[in-house]
Formats: sequence, C-alpha cells, structure tokens
Amino acid sequence: MRYAVLGTGVVGQVIAGKLASLGHEVAVGTRDPEATLARSEPDGYGNPPFAHWKAAHEQVRLKTFADAAAWAESVVNATSGAGSLQALDAAGAANLAGKTLVDIANPLDFSQGMPPSLNPVNTDSLGEQIQRLFPQAKVVKTLNTMNCQVMVDPARVSGEHTVFVAGDDADAKKAVSELLVSFGWPHGSILDLGSIDAARGTEMLLPIWLRLWGAVGHADFNFHIQGGHTAA
Ligand SMILES: NC(=O)c1ccc[n+]([C@@H]2O[C@H](COP(=O)([O-])OP(=O)(O)OC[C@H]3O[C@@H](n4cnc5c(N)ncnc54)[C@H](OP(=O)(O)O)[C@@H]3O)[C@@H](O)[C@H]2O)c1
Repeated sequence: MRYAVLGTGVVGQVIAGKLASLGHEVAVGTRDPEATLARSEPDGYGNPPFAHWKAAHEQVRLKTFADAAAWAESVVNATSGAGSLQALDAAGAANLAGKTLVDIANPLDFSQGMPPSLNPVNTDSLGEQIQRLFPQAKVVKTLNTMNCQVMVDPARVSGEHTVFVAGDDADAKKAVSELLVSFGWPHGSILDLGSIDAARGTEMLLPIWLRLWGAVGHADFNFHIQGGHTAA
C-alpha cells in the first residue's frame, strides 16, 4: 500500500517508519520539503531535526502535502492540531477523495500557554471538522489517545489496553483496524466507538492523558476499557 503521512514531527516519523518497516511505500508530507530538510534545530521537545530521521530512512520519500496525498492510496494526518485544516487544505480535497484518512491529530491550543486547551471541544471535534471539510475522504480517528511510541509498539505497555477507532465509513474502519493489527494491536484491543462524532470524546481524553503523564512520570501507559470490546 502507498501511504502519505502528513506531518514531519515525531508522530509522523514514528508512523512513517513503522509503515516502511512493514513493507509499505511511504511518503512524508510537509509544507516545503527543502525548508524541512534544511532545519538544523531540534523541535520543541528536543527531538533531532527531521533531516536526521530522513537520513536513516532513505526509502521514505519527502513530498509536499499535495504531492504526497496525490501519490498515496491512503493518508495519515499527523500534523499539529492547530495546523491540520491548513495542511489538509494544502493536500487538496481532490487528492483526499475516496481515500482513507487516518486522523491522529489532537486539537491542542497552546496559545494561552500550558496546559493547552482544546479547540474545538465538547460540541465539535477536529475529526468532525476534517470530515465536514473533506466529505469525500473516509476519516477514521484513532491512536490519538496515547504516546506515538505506543501507537506502533503496543507491547511497550504491559497487559491489555485499548485503541479506539471512530468514523462514518465501515470499510475504512475495517481497513484501519487491520492496519492496527499489523502494528501489533490484538483484535480484542480495538474498540469501535461508532461514527466520527466520537472523536469529541477521544480528543477530550487529552487533558487527563497529560495529567496522567505527569503523575506516572513516563509516557508508556494507556487506557484500558475492561469488558465490552468488539473488533471493528
Ligand atoms: N506526540 C505524541 O506522542 C502524540 C500522541 C497523540 C497524538 N499526537 C498528535 O499528533 C500530531 C503530530 O504531533 P507532532 O508532535 O509529531 O508534530 P507537531 O509539531 O504537532 O506538528 C508538526 C507538523 O504540523 C505541520 N504544521 C504545523 N502548523 C501548520 C500549518 N499552519 N499549516 C500546515 N501544516 C502545519 C508541520 O508542517 P511542516 O512539516 O511543514 O513544518 C509539521 O508537519 C499532533 O496533532 C499531536 O497532537 C501526538
């Protein structure tokens, strides 16, 4: 499968690297490939510049958002929540039409400092905004409720734990569930929450996730919903 992973941050890198290791063809999408490769400073979390990761993953292409989305059969949104609509607009509605769009982003708003708030929240969600703006894309919200290393290596967290999926297209959710299984998620750990408006709830888990991160002292933890799992 040809995947476009929109996003050059740590999440885009981790997802793109995992997809490539599974034998998929992968293009990472960015606003300006030359500018992205020219960055020499670590990101806000101290991660090395994108070019370091790219040098270790030569088989992964780097394209503009539009070129990556046009080239791909399936698209992953791993851009910042505040920039996701602009990034997807740059990717282009025509290039997203008919494709599964895996949305991992969280609409964290850092404009008032720490801790971030959510925007949108409560009566809307980023997942829904994306589905409304790109009605021909098949948006599946998933993986946004855990650290990115856990997304692609669930065994980092001991015991059973849960990954949520939400979206309006049953076939797209099935395809994403199969992708999650290939990442190492047992079928029984995948909990289908129904339509895309369930993204309100999964995005609103972020404030408690951030508090848990502080309380636990590391990011290798996850939510576990005991009982009631049905594979999508
Ligand atoms: N860190 C985690 O473990 C984790 C876990 C769950 C969910 N998430 C979510 O995953 C997403 C990615 O997180 P991250 O830390 O890897 O990266 P990030 O720093 O949140 O986002 C970086 C990406 O967003 C793009 N971007 C930023 N502003 C933009 C704008 N105005 N227009 C277009 N594109 C814009 C950047 O484009 P350029 O490439 O052009 O610079 C870059 O590709 C976020 O939504 C985050 O909330 C993160």
